[in-house]
Amino acid sequence: MAQEDVFKKLVAHCKEYGFVFQSSEIYDGLSAVYDYAQLGVELKNNIKKYWWDSMVKLHENVVGIDSAIFMHPTIWKASGHVDAFNDPLIDNKDSKKRYRADVLIEDLLAKFEAKMDKEVAKAQKKFGETFDEAQFRATNPRVLANKEKMDAIHARFVEALDKNDLVDLKQIIIDNEIACPISGTKNWTDVRQFNLMFSTDMGSTADGSSKIYLRPETAQGIFVNYLNVQKTGRMKIPFGIAQIGKAFRNEIVARQFIFRMREFEQMELQFFVRPGEEMKWFNAWKETRMSWHRALGFGEDKYRFHDHDKLAHYANAATDVEFKFPFGFKEVEGIHSRTDFDLKQHQEYSGKKIQYFDPELNKSYVPYVVETSIGVDRMFLQIMSEAYQEEKIEKEDGKVDERVVLKLPPALAPVKLCVMPLVKKDGLPDKAREIIDDLKFDFNCQYDEKDSIGKRYRRQDAIGTPFCVTLDHQSLEDNTVTLRYRDTMAQERVEISKLYEIIKSEVSMKELFKKLK
Ligand code: GAP
Repeated sequence: MAQEDVFKKLVAHCKEYGFVFQSSEIYDGLSAVYDYAQLGVELKNNIKKYWWDSMVKLHENVVGIDSAIFMHPTIWKASGHVDAFNDPLIDNKDSKKRYRADVLIEDLLAKFEAKMDKEVAKAQKKFGETFDEAQFRATNPRVLANKEKMDAIHARFVEALDKNDLVDLKQIIIDNEIACPISGTKNWTDVRQFNLMFSTDMGSTADGSSKIYLRPETAQGIFVNYLNVQKTGRMKIPFGIAQIGKAFRNEIVARQFIFRMREFEQMELQFFVRPGEEMKWFNAWKETRMSWHRALGFGEDKYRFHDHDKLAHYANAATDVEFKFPFGFKEVEGIHSRTDFDLKQHQEYSGKKIQYFDPELNKSYVPYVVETSIGVDRMFLQIMSEAYQEEKIEKEDGKVDERVVLKLPPALAPVKLCVMPLVKKDGLPDKAREIIDDLKFDFNCQYDEKDSIGKRYRRQDAIGTPFCVTLDHQSLEDNTVTLRYRDTMAQERVEISKLYEIIKSEVSMKELFKKLK
């Protein structure tokens, strides 16, 4: 099945099973805004816990905060967001559709890459095990021709971004005959800059009110609390401050479901270090964060680093962790070496000294910062797109059955077990409730007595529940139940008293944490 079709099915599945709903759906929705539903919120909370504990619990020198969304408007002047938090936009005059000029060019570059990958895949099929991919890429004329074109466009693109040359950005689009996907025409407006921050008024009267912004990143809430945390927590450099919270961006083009939203959630760490040591910490955090992703078990080939073509105004090094979504490799996390830009700016704009006295060096300085910043929603999409699987199952009578199963990492699954009495009578429901009453303090449990056991198993597969526990009449006699495993569909008879240990060993986050570097 084409990857786009898989993605469409995933989006439909998220709605059908209560993971994600379009915001304000009964009013025909609000573009690029989504609500997390009854199961979605559980998965999202588990993702946040996995991140928070891995940062705050597992690092002695990292503490957390929860700062307000509304902040003093000067903060956004100091941080550079008022002047420079822009995206280059372009409109197609025929379809009246608006695009990000840089994204149109990036999509073109991705097409060249896809063409080269196709050549490689074809050759791989032809030559089998003897195939040498590196040599093929270095010598095949079609691959080389595509690479040459791609590199030339890329170099020009980077230069235009660096120089903020909006005229050349448009010219790249024209020269490469990029057409609007809707109208199919190349009838473009000029490229203009568009500030992504939402603003509103604070105060009750028009005269007495002041313009404030909805934060476009949570990071500034950490910077402006740096001194408070360092002093009250007696933190010694190097140390970090972690935060999870909502951020808002008036994205020009919101695409791919919850991948690019106007209201989203970030999990950010600002790690304060000695000036000159930032590259050491930048590399260390790259490794730590990659191991956090890989511990989920989706496969090494699903991730890669992508260094930024254009560094943000505050950074001296930056890379993205990219994940292979059904629509290609895309950013899920940014790791940035932000220098001392932010703290220095706040020092200047606030007039307050923001420095650290380093007892070992016996001097004061403005710390440098390494940031890791990941979107909760993109992580959610990553996990769902990897977990969603359609399987064909051969039955004993030779017929083929199908199931949709969410192979979620058990520690993140919204529901850990479902308890099912085989029939709704003979005391089985009461016994099932007893099991739930015993386990509900440790695990999120469901109870289901409706329909055949097969149908109930399918319902739980579709929401990613790792365990189903079925009671029958034998359970009343010997206190045993059938435990069914989601991924293998294997079943075994176990004592009720053993359920806690078996389930805990699989769904505990500790198993994920043990894999972290
Ligand atoms: N403080 C740095 C910062 O905000 P960023 O690369 O702009 O850096 C970090 O954003 C992460 O936030 C991204 O890697 C992505 O996961 C998430 N993110 C950014 N914009 C988003 C959007 N419109 N919708 C969903 N997630 C978004």
